[in-house]
Amino acid sequence: MFEIDKNKKTIFSAVQPSGFLTLGNYLGAIKNWINFQDNYNCIFSLADLHTITVKQNPKDFHDRIIELYALFLACGVNPEKSIFFIQSHVHTHAELSWILSCFTYFGELSRMTQFKDKSQKYENNINSGLFTYPCLMAADILLYQADIIPVGADQKQHIELTRDIAIRFNNLYGDIFKIPEDFIPKAGARIMSLQNPEKKMSKSDENANSYIALLDSPDIIVKKIKKAVTDSNNLVKFTDKNTGIDNLINIYSSLTNKKIVEIEQEFENSNYGIFKNKISEKIIETLNPIQEKFNYYIKNKDYLEINYKKSAEMALEISQKTLNKVKESIGFLSL
Ligand code: TYM
Repeated sequence: MFEIDKNKKTIFSAVQPSGFLTLGNYLGAIKNWINFQDNYNCIFSLADLHTITVKQNPKDFHDRIIELYALFLACGVNPEKSIFFIQSHVHTHAELSWILSCFTYFGELSRMTQFKDKSQKYENNINSGLFTYPCLMAADILLYQADIIPVGADQKQHIELTRDIAIRFNNLYGDIFKIPEDFIPKAGARIMSLQNPEKKMSKSDENANSYIALLDSPDIIVKKIKKAVTDSNNLVKFTDKNTGIDNLINIYSSLTNKKIVEIEQEFENSNYGIFKNKISEKIIETLNPIQEKFNYYIKNKDYLEINYKKSAEMALEISQKTLNKVKESIGFLSL
């Protein structure tokens, strides 16, 4: 059974159940979570409160949460070695989020690129949750006094804001929060859409050919990689200009842990067709065992429930301590 070890650093990270997980989520974040489990206190969450900033169909949302819980276990999140809870089960998050929103400036939140992007994309539903979302994310992190936050590059700005809020709060009230650092992998930090290399690969993209979902079948994977945009050069060479071929090289590098120069050498005499076949092969090889384990876990709902309940209890116990300290420091009357 998992226990916090005071001699180890603490990792916190979360993913939203906003659609099916993509290869971008896996290579940018989840793959690194798994590697931390032996040497750090790991606390992971399905950030379902964040997801309702965009309208959700209740039945689909409900089913997706449990499916993603199973999928994370299939990816290697091990409830014996880490806490893996569902955010809405732990009420301290919403409570600290409100408090932190009173220490976060309108101007800071207005500068968040994710807010700007999402308010363009969902122009009929620019709700205040979408705007204050970074306060909830800061609460997630600060409640656990986390040292390191493994994320993809798109979350860097939110982690910087979390640090600013924590420093501001500590300056006012003393040493309440630990100041966290991001951990962004070299390869895989920014996996782009297969159809438009200017955009990140996203689980909420309407064009299914733009992403590889972790549960895509081998046929679909081959088809999507074949359709991935490249150019007419037919040279497996990194341009550093955010092109389609750069994205494919990045994906291959992250899957194989090979350096870009090694990949360029490996495919010196190959065309894009050969390179794409090799990428599909590697993706299928990586996802196949995950898919098999997913099929096992999703049929064992009781096992999933035991784990998310146990994790929620542990998360509440840890986070309540921080929340109590915060409330006391501000001057709230304790019960
Ligand atoms: P979310 O659910 O959009 O993404 C989850 C994780 O996957 C990374 N990621 C990517 N990495 C590389 N390439 C991509 N195309 C790609 N797309 C997504 C993200 O950077 C992230 O690490 N707000 C967060 C969830 C969250 C959170 C937190 C994260 C809530 N609270 C506290 C860290 C700490 C989000 O929407 O991630």
